[in-house]
Amino acid sequence: MVNSDFLTNFDEIHSTEKMLWLGQNTNHLPAHPAVKEALLKAVSNQTYNNYAPPQGYEELRELILRDVVGESSAPDTKVLITDGAIDGLYLVCKRYGDAPTTLITSDPTWVWPLNFAKNQGANVRLLPIYDGSKDYKLQLSDLREALTQGSNPILYLIDPLNPLGSSYTRDELKKIAEVLEETDALVIHDCTYRDFAFDHHLMRDILPKKTITTYSFSKWLGIAGLRTGAIIADTPIFEFLLQDQSNILGSNVLGQRAAIAAFSVKEEWIDEVNTVQRGNQKMIAEVLQMVEGLHPVVYPSNGNFLAVDCQSTGVTATAIAAEFLKREIFIRTSNYHSEVLKELFLKISTTVPVSWVERLCEELPSVLSTCSEKDRK
Ligand SMILES: Cc1ncc(COP(=O)(O)O)c(C=O)c1O
Repeated sequence: MVNSDFLTNFDEIHSTEKMLWLGQNTNHLPAHPAVKEALLKAVSNQTYNNYAPPQGYEELRELILRDVVGESSAPDTKVLITDGAIDGLYLVCKRYGDAPTTLITSDPTWVWPLNFAKNQGANVRLLPIYDGSKDYKLQLSDLREALTQGSNPILYLIDPLNPLGSSYTRDELKKIAEVLEETDALVIHDCTYRDFAFDHHLMRDILPKKTITTYSFSKWLGIAGLRTGAIIADTPIFEFLLQDQSNILGSNVLGQRAAIAAFSVKEEWIDEVNTVQRGNQKMIAEVLQMVEGLHPVVYPSNGNFLAVDCQSTGVTATAIAAEFLKREIFIRTSNYHSEVLKELFLKISTTVPVSWVERLCEELPSVLSTCSEKDRK
């Protein structure tokens, strides 16, 4: 389902010292001093000699609960620390993905949970959303049809959506929740990019008993390599998930220490990160106006990335990304996010130093002309 080149290339991309990482929505801004200090202390104390508590440090679980649910959380709302959000998604798909489950999501999407569920026996139903008239979001009528037809339906709702940066209003979520209730469906609300959104809402505020929320520290905090995330759910879903918990020896202690420290500075940090990343989005959008055939898909994006449609350039997204890679700039394409839209758009991360985006913008016209020349030959 996923182009395996993206996997086999990784070691090479890592070993290229000057590579600009603009392909994975990771956060490359200088860490907040409080987070750096917590990490250095945890390393120097050899905190990592220990396993963390099986469900994560209590302090961190509390902080996440407060971040997501607020002060008014019910006693049966629980947090499990996972090895990144992906580990939580794996657990959910493993527990709920057996036949005859139907996992419903958008096309394009973030594909890995689809693979997890398929391996468990689930059917996957993809609803096309790459369409300006749909605002690049799931449409209620499509969703109703898929939820009604699919057996044991589960909605995998990525919001904001990687790769396009679209996000749902509270009113839209309410309408989706009504259909979920009518069809007795569960929803996995993947909120990995929540902190980059202009106005984000949680499905669990509307439908707490049927929502599993997945949480990541990779992007807002910038600790993708420390593999720390969480899932939030109410009992009995939480208890059902725990029965097959694979990280029973606890998740990364360094990541958890960094996350605890980050909550004490989260507001100022997020403001700073969004100022930089939205400025980077703007810079890219301005350059696109000067390059024929390229335009942003959702602008401004609610994620820390910008999808750029390249259909009218006459050059494939893969060719453009490959040319950027030769120039030591790693970006992603629709190939990673959809079997149908393979060559239609590029995706560029924006939580990176401004100088990286300046470089990308400088290279863009010549990348395109090199690709076009190659096509003509
Ligand atoms: C939509 C979505 N969910 C989950 C993840 C994985 O997050 P983590 O790094 O916390 O495992 C990603 C990573 O790119 C993502 O795009």
